[in-house]
Amino acid sequence: MLDLVNLYEQEYPEPNAKIVDRIQEIDLDFMAEDLRKLVGSMQVGTERIRQIVLSLRNFSRLDESAMKPVDIHAGIDSTLLILQHRLKSHDSRPAIEVIKEFGKLPLVECYASQLNQVFMNIIVNGIDAIEERCHKLSVSEAEKNPGRIAIWTGVTPQNTVMVEISDNGTGIPEEIVDRIFNPFFTTKAVGKGTGLGMSIAHSIVVEKHKGKIECISQMGRGTTFKIQIPIGKT
Ligand SMILES: Nc1ncnc2c1ncn2[C@@H]1O[C@H](COP(=O)(O)OP(=O)(O)OP(=O)(O)O)[C@@H](O)[C@H]1O
Ligand SMILES: [Mg+2]
Repeated sequence: MLDLVNLYEQEYPEPNAKIVDRIQEIDLDFMAEDLRKLVGSMQVGTERIRQIVLSLRNFSRLDESAMKPVDIHAGIDSTLLILQHRLKSHDSRPAIEVIKEFGKLPLVECYASQLNQVFMNIIVNGIDAIEERCHKLSVSEAEKNPGRIAIWTGVTPQNTVMVEISDNGTGIPEEIVDRIFNPFFTTKAVGKGTGLGMSIAHSIVVEKHKGKIECISQMGRGTTFKIQIPIGKT
């Protein structure tokens, strides 16, 4: 359409007064420029929506209720994409950086959607803990020590896949660290946490996958969750 308008301008360089008026009224140059940007943003927006829908499908894997050989890294990536809005910067704190150190992993025999739920529950807790820490700081202090979530993966000599997820949030007091896997244990405000996230993660890893989940935490430094899943028969 813009090409056609350009062509008209070239072929009829001297339009009549009515057209000149209308060109000024709608500010044709600005509109042409703006239209290009608008279409560009729409393309970026729809591409982003497409990615999110794809990740939601990938994340939930509703079509796969059985144990299957799974790419753990794809699960972690789709979890992170779904949580993107919580990682972005806010008025009160800078963006949370995600550092991925992915090793070479084989496909792992597991329930993909359940394992993604584990990653989700752990990463959300990490984000909550970072927000709680930043809450106590001024904006400039928070900027000097921004939130960071590190995810490391690798294979252990015991033929398990290890996923370590660390945050530099508040840390967990020593006297309660043993209780975080208990159902309904929460330190969060009423209505914010149900206290089920870690208990669900524990039963998915230990009971459903015969794996291990361990929590190491230091007050003021942060928390690391270590998850091990047997690689299985793949
Ligand atoms: N990364 C972490 N840093 C600090 N505290 C944590 C972390 N992970 C868990 N906790 C502590 O363990 C408690 C239990 O976590 P859990 O995920 O089971 O419940 P919740 O986050 O409170 O609620 P929800 O059911 O919404 O997940 C939390 O309330 C918090 O005190
Ligand atoms: Mg939680």
